[in-house]
Amino acid sequence: MLLLFAFVSAGLANQVNAAAVSAKASSFAGSTSTFQFPPADITATASLIDSLFPDASEVGFAGPTPTGDEAESVATAPAMAPVKGYFPLVRPETSDNKGESFDVVKSWANLSPMQSVKSFGLDNATEQIPEGCKINQVFLLHRHGARYPTDGSDPAAFAADVHSAAGNGTFVATGPLEFLNTWTYKLGAELLTPFGREQLFNLGVGFRVKYGDLLKNFTGLPVWRTTSEARMVDSALHFAAGFFGVQSYQSSYHQLIEIEEEEFNSTLAPWNVCPNANNDIWALGDDATDAWNNVYLADAQKRFAQYLPGFNLTIQDVAGMQALCPYETVALGYSAFCDLFTEEEWKGFAYGVDLNFWYGDGPGNPAVSAQGIGWVQELVSRLTQTRLTTFDTTLNGTIVGNNATFPLDQPIYVDASHDTVISAVLPAMNFSFLAAGGPLPLDHIPENQTYIVQKISPFASRLVGQVLSCPASDTPTHIRWLLNDGVLPQSGIQGCGYDPNGLCEFDTFVAGMKQRIEEVDFVFDCYANYSLSLDNDTITNGQYPQ
Ligand SMILES: *[C@@H]1O[C@H](CO)[C@@H](O)[C@H](O)[C@H]1NC(C)=O
Ligand SMILES: *[C@@H]1O[C@H](CO)[C@@H](O)[C@H](O)[C@H]1NC(C)=O
Ligand SMILES: *[C@@H]1O[C@H](CO)[C@@H](O)[C@H](O)[C@H]1NC(C)=O
Ligand SMILES: *[C@@H]1O[C@H](CO)[C@@H](O)[C@H](O)[C@H]1NC(C)=O
Ligand SMILES: *[C@@H]1O[C@H](CO)[C@@H](O)[C@H](O)[C@H]1NC(C)=O
Ligand SMILES: *[C@@H]1O[C@H](CO)[C@@H](O)[C@H](O)[C@H]1NC(C)=O
Ligand SMILES: *[C@@H]1O[C@H](CO)[C@@H](O)[C@H](O)[C@H]1NC(C)=O
Ligand SMILES: *[C@@H]1O[C@H](CO)[C@@H](O)[C@H](O)[C@H]1NC(C)=O
Ligand SMILES: *[C@@H]1O[C@H](CO)[C@@H](O)[C@H](O)[C@H]1NC(C)=O
Ligand SMILES: *[C@@H]1O[C@H](CO)[C@@H](O)[C@H](O)[C@H]1NC(C)=O
Ligand SMILES: *[C@@H]1O[C@H](CO)[C@@H](O)[C@H](O)[C@H]1NC(C)=O
Repeated sequence: MLLLFAFVSAGLANQVNAAAVSAKASSFAGSTSTFQFPPADITATASLIDSLFPDASEVGFAGPTPTGDEAESVATAPAMAPVKGYFPLVRPETSDNKGESFDVVKSWANLSPMQSVKSFGLDNATEQIPEGCKINQVFLLHRHGARYPTDGSDPAAFAADVHSAAGNGTFVATGPLEFLNTWTYKLGAELLTPFGREQLFNLGVGFRVKYGDLLKNFTGLPVWRTTSEARMVDSALHFAAGFFGVQSYQSSYHQLIEIEEEEFNSTLAPWNVCPNANNDIWALGDDATDAWNNVYLADAQKRFAQYLPGFNLTIQDVAGMQALCPYETVALGYSAFCDLFTEEEWKGFAYGVDLNFWYGDGPGNPAVSAQGIGWVQELVSRLTQTRLTTFDTTLNGTIVGNNATFPLDQPIYVDASHDTVISAVLPAMNFSFLAAGGPLPLDHIPENQTYIVQKISPFASRLVGQVLSCPASDTPTHIRWLLNDGVLPQSGIQGCGYDPNGLCEFDTFVAGMKQRIEEVDFVFDCYANYSLSLDNDTITNGQYPQ
């Protein structure tokens, strides 16, 4: 049924293009088209004829299979290869600046595919472990890969507006917007896209090549965590498939899936037990973006309105059109919406998301460090091999209280999570240099901006902790953190100070994290009925002012 619908739509689209006599929209413009493979009529009748399709172990004859040794390129290679590019996505253009100089994709903020960050100010530090050190343990907190829009977001609202007008026979798009007459909304919601799968598979491969040697010190199978949302499970499995290979990943580790749902405790989805993450306090982020949209999209609204006579094109519609560029590109490989916007407007888009994160999910929101602190408690538990016994934040005691589900002796830890968890953990840990530029203004893009979401929480973002011994031994002496391959300065963490390689002494770091756990008032910041507005929100540490 769904398949049939897709064919009908495509057929009509061709007729309209061929005719090209009238710019009037087809009645299906803006409608949502969907497809699922395999369709139900195939799965209902399919029988797996195992005798005709035996698996590899039954067939045998695998050829020679000696395993080589593990890789550890962070220690053995003279330099690391950065993540660059985004095959197979088509690189978009802007409306005013064609050519290579400006890459629109870097303006997609949290919708950008992760690219290695060159530097967070420590220009000589690299992902490569410092000379004279050995890597003893590694932590990975990563975001899922590229996904469809979240449920009910601007792109779907724009499609609905177009579809409603087309259904009334009042939608006519001309000029550069003519493509809208036959455009349908092909995006689902929330799920990982094929490109998102590639990102996580590649992350798994990369992690094996960089840190595989640490597998030798597992005494049991690794336990790696994700949450229950479909794209989260999908991301975790693709990471594992990349890391272990598709023939053996299912028997090489345990995948822990924490429930992500309202009222359920999980440090990987902490907003579900933090009321102030779900009310007007959290909405400060959206308010800031809305204010900024009215500034930077006013010109685009006027420009586009002349090509949509009779259509009430709102700023929210224009914001939806702009967000369709990244969303269609990461799902469909290409989007006609991208080059409708100028270079300035793309910089404006990135800044709108920066504002959203700063005031809603980052250093400028009073309930954010509270949301990140549970993961920090887990980190301290793991680093010190001390079992947690009180669960008074977002911790789930059933999980972290149990040696089987939360082991404390792993050489490699992998936690899959969300953009807003990475953005909450950073202020919870006091990586204050990201907030050094202070609160973000609502009416212009500041010079010397230090808070840039494209570097913090892109699709497949990764925060990596390297536990090191310098000089090499079996006892860790130092730790440092890399955000999307860029080494983070730890000078905001009490006692750590400046180090050109971003190192902090292990015990000093642990003491700093314990102090942060004391400093962050989870119950007040998440539950108290305080008020705050964009006029007086000068917070830079993700906590309500004392
Ligand atoms: C990086 O190294 C160069 C050459 O050794 C030195 O001049 C520069 O000050 C260093 N930069 C930082 C940020 O340490
Ligand atoms: C289309 O018609 C419906 C019902 O008559 C109306 O509610 C809706 O506002 C119209 N939409 C547009 C975009 O004109
Ligand atoms: C694994 O543990 C052994 C014994 O504690 C140690 O000698 C070795 O260096 C460790 N290997 C790694 C990769 O840390
Ligand atoms: C903790 O996690 C377990 C296992 O997923 C789940 O059954 C339980 O409901 C969770 N508890 C809370 C309070 O979220
Ligand atoms: C256009 O839409 C906005 C927002 O929905 C609404 O406030 C306004 O009244 C509409 N204008 C017209 C002319 O329909
Ligand atoms: C879940 O978190 C709440 C609030 O911190 C806490 O009271 C409760 O004990 C936790 N439940 C579990 C199973 O950890
Ligand atoms: C916890 O798990 C580790 C690794 O499997 C094991 O070495 C240790 O003995 C366990 N501890 C307890 C108290 O069961
Ligand atoms: C931005 O940085 C440059 C170079 O460090 C400096 O000259 C300028 O004053 C800074 N601008 C602001 C607004 O801080
Ligand atoms: C966190 O940063 C604040 C502000 O810079 C500082 O006062 C505090 O001591 C820091 N705490 C820790 C544990 O690093
Ligand atoms: C929070 O406080 C305000 C003003 O004191 C009050 O109007 C509101 O009802 C309170 N909200 C809750 C959830 O208690
Ligand atoms: C911010 O302003 C609101 C009024 O808009 C006031 O109720 C609140 O106490 C102020 N908060 C802070 C932290 O200054």
